Amino acid sequence: MLRKIGIAELAVGMYVVDTGLSWLEHPFLYSQEGPVRDAGVLRGIVEAGYEEAFIDTDKGAFGTARAAVDSRQAAPLAAAAAALPSEGRAAARTAPLPLAQGLAEAGVLYRDCLAIAHDILREVQTGGEINVEASRHLVDDVIASAVRNRDALLALTKLRVHDAYTFTHGVNVAVVAVAFGSAMGLSPKGLKELGLAGLFHDVGKTGVPDAILNKPGRLTPEEFEQIKLHPAHGCRILADRGLGRDVLRGVGEHHEKFDGSGYPNGLSGAMVHPFGRILGVADVFDALTSKRSYKEAMLPTRALGVLYGMRDRDFPAGLVERFIKFLGPYPVGSFVRLSSGECGFVRGANPGRPLFPELLLVLDAAGRATPHRLLDLGNGDASGLSIVSALDPEAFGLDALACLTGGAE
Ligand SMILES: [Fe+2]
Repeated sequence: MLRKIGIAELAVGMYVVDTGLSWLEHPFLYSQEGPVRDAGVLRGIVEAGYEEAFIDTDKGAFGTARAAVDSRQAAPLAAAAAALPSEGRAAARTAPLPLAQGLAEAGVLYRDCLAIAHDILREVQTGGEINVEASRHLVDDVIASAVRNRDALLALTKLRVHDAYTFTHGVNVAVVAVAFGSAMGLSPKGLKELGLAGLFHDVGKTGVPDAILNKPGRLTPEEFEQIKLHPAHGCRILADRGLGRDVLRGVGEHHEKFDGSGYPNGLSGAMVHPFGRILGVADVFDALTSKRSYKEAMLPTRALGVLYGMRDRDFPAGLVERFIKFLGPYPVGSFVRLSSGECGFVRGANPGRPLFPELLLVLDAAGRATPHRLLDLGNGDASGLSIVSALDPEAFGLDALACLTGGAE
């Protein structure tokens, strides 16, 4: 007999059944067919953020001693990223370009994306027609690049200097959401819809006065009530344009929260559409790591720490932990100091050892500029060296994009 259970009820010896339910409708359903062989496998399932599973009570043990792990007892940020299993099928298929080449290729796409997003926003602001076809092409290109140049495209959202947050934010959220969705195994159709929802998620802010959107200080309750109107306003702008129900739900629910304290409808838990949850995480990450008129940009590593603290309140713990695993504790483009005192940019991830990425060293232990040198911390030559902190390259007068595209000397 099949039985659907909460993941906390899953135990070693139970037989999990793949029911064939789609990822989109059931993104937190564990469906790897077969018995749960040992406590390590069980721990991996729990820590990956799954919430439910179907078991066959005729095939495996049922009601055996439980060895479930409370995901809320997960290790701190870096350890969590290191402990979680490798990302999914799409990531495994990726054959990335060398970073410098990838940055150049992705840079052209990213510039085009910003231009199209700018035009779309201007049309909305002036009451014109939204170019849905151009938006679909843009998202198709982002998806292709997210597979081919994942790290380069993600790095560009952080390395370029932006002064027009309103439309760069839409592009950045689309990029982050699509790359994350791809790593989670979302279908091609799902990725397209998620990308469109990301691109348009804040289009309703065109109905909110700039004075409120860019206000440096704390919003009054009345001003916040105006902000809270933007998801629904966005859905009205996008209605009847053939974008699909899931796109509109992503736009309408990207500020709903796991504990029900979000807006506009106070949805909670699984009531929040998967697109709303993913866009919510991508939205917070980009907002934290972007420079605004009233705040400096937060380092990506620090932003991941903030997101980690939001688990179980704003977002499901498993989703946050998967996002941290997806980006790694030191995303490509991060500037870090080593235990030797040398400093460099993270140039490439080591998927199996996220705490030991490949670096481009640019400063010696005394803080002096040195000829750029590649160092793979995951390689035996660098054994004994570790990252001790993430730094702001601007504080050292360094241009991350120029260093990374320049490569080693
Ligand atoms: Fe928003």
